[in-house]
Amino acid sequence: MSGSFPMNGGNGIYSYTKNSEFQREALNTIKEMIDMAIAEKLDVKHLTSTSRSIHLADLGCSVGPNTFIAMQNVIAAAEKKYYAKSLSSEKLEFQVFFNDHISNDFNTLFAALPWLSKVPEKLLDKNSPTWNKGKIHYTGASGEVMKAYAAQFESDMENFLEARAKEVVVGGVMVLAIQSLLDDVDQSKTPSGLMFKFVEAGLMDMVNAVSQ
Ligand SMILES: C[S@@+](CC[C@H](N)C(=O)[O-])C[C@H]1O[C@@H](n2cnc3c(N)ncnc32)[C@H](O)[C@@H]1O
Repeated sequence: MSGSFPMNGGNGIYSYTKNSEFQREALNTIKEMIDMAIAEKLDVKHLTSTSRSIHLADLGCSVGPNTFIAMQNVIAAAEKKYYAKSLSSEKLEFQVFFNDHISNDFNTLFAALPWLSKVPEKLLDKNSPTWNKGKIHYTGASGEVMKAYAAQFESDMENFLEARAKEVVVGGVMVLAIQSLLDDVDQSKTPSGLMFKFVEAGLMDMVNAVSQ
């Protein structure tokens, strides 16, 4: 048969995400066998002298969430073996490679990962003073909205820096090129603020045209 037929993407009622309990059971069934294979066969001795990085690949990962459980099981078993041998107290590093057909819904897979930045949730609450109706950004929005974005930025940035701190070698350097704003400058008067205002106006026109 030619062509590829990946699992149904998204989160709908017919999606793989919502219809993969059977495969999840299979994962639970083989967990013990994987634990045993790692305990017996995985060579962790060389990790101390060269690198403490282990690469995992899930060939046929689909859209999740099963792949996260599968990879977490492998990570836990590898860590158990490594620390049981008392080879080093240094943390192991794991890099997980998700592989599937090119038409697999990787967006749903990666959207399920917890560390990704997002629109502040409060903006989506219609009953909250942070409900950002008719806007796509904090440009020209209320102080409450600005605070919600600032809090989200703080949390995203902390996650980002924590992750990078684990990756950068001792003595290494990281350069961060990022937009910023002086305290006394009105965001809506800056080039990016104007750009958001124009895009917002265009999008609102389109929404209004469709809803008329
Ligand atoms: C039944 S799903 C299992 C998904 C996941 N491993 C789980 O346990 O939930 C099988 C997956 O294998 C993928 N697959 C099949 N043939 C493949 C190939 N040649 N290369 C990459 N992925 C493939 C399919 O697209 C599908 O996502």
